[in-house]
Amino acid sequence: MNKIFKIIHKKKNKSKIVCLTAYSKNIAEEVDKYVDIVLVGDSLGSVLYNYSTTRKVTLTEMINHSKSARLGVKKSLMVVDMPFNTYATKNSALKNAKKIIKETKCDAVKLEGGKKIINQIKLLIKNKIPVMGHLGLLPQSAKGKFKSKGNTIKEINQLLDDAKLLQKNGVFAIVLECIKTPIAKKITKNLNIPTIGIGSSVHCDGQVLVTDDLIGLNQTNIKFVKKFLNVKKYINTGLRKFASEVRSKKYPTKKHSY
Ligand code: KIV
Repeated sequence: MNKIFKIIHKKKNKSKIVCLTAYSKNIAEEVDKYVDIVLVGDSLGSVLYNYSTTRKVTLTEMINHSKSARLGVKKSLMVVDMPFNTYATKNSALKNAKKIIKETKCDAVKLEGGKKIINQIKLLIKNKIPVMGHLGLLPQSAKGKFKSKGNTIKEINQLLDDAKLLQKNGVFAIVLECIKTPIAKKITKNLNIPTIGIGSSVHCDGQVLVTDDLIGLNQTNIKFVKKFLNVKKYINTGLRKFASEVRSKKYPTKKHSY
């Protein structure tokens, strides 16, 4: 296990793991200062491209955004989402994960699902590709139905079994999305590997959010999002000043001219 994975693993039961998304260099550079894990999430499909579903995100889009983010990530672990349909079979999962790792120089990939994709996960880990799991609400499978998970005995047992199965097969951490509080708590307690929550309560070992949501760059009313900043306000102040100074010929001055 390399150094950053060890640091993250050791945080379980000691201190919280902080994870945020970044889709490009400039945001990644800022995010990297405060987090343990930078995730190039396929949420970029809805945040940047207005796609109705993350299923529309392509491998090329993920690779290009990850290459840019890589330029800003210096100390954190960088994880890249494998987009929909790139890990439908064992062989396609291995081929595409190798391509992602080679082209983006990321540290790990994230795949959505448990038992259904366990053969893909096993093959990646056998080939020394670190994998982050993702259970609960799986946006690539949700088909627009964004509902919390862990509401029925069947769902609860499936989540508990999937979490154990992922751990047994070597994933280094699991994202728990929109899982009912007691179930997220139980999963976290049952595992030796860290859980990273999103809409899954304070009982997870860490927390992830989409950076554009928390800084108010992307407008959303999802329950788990807390808006920590209204960055649009600052952007607008700068842009308004620029437009005004150009129109009034206050800018550029001699200082800005050759
Ligand atoms: O795509 C993404 O950004 C994610 C996180 C929100 C967990 O998977």
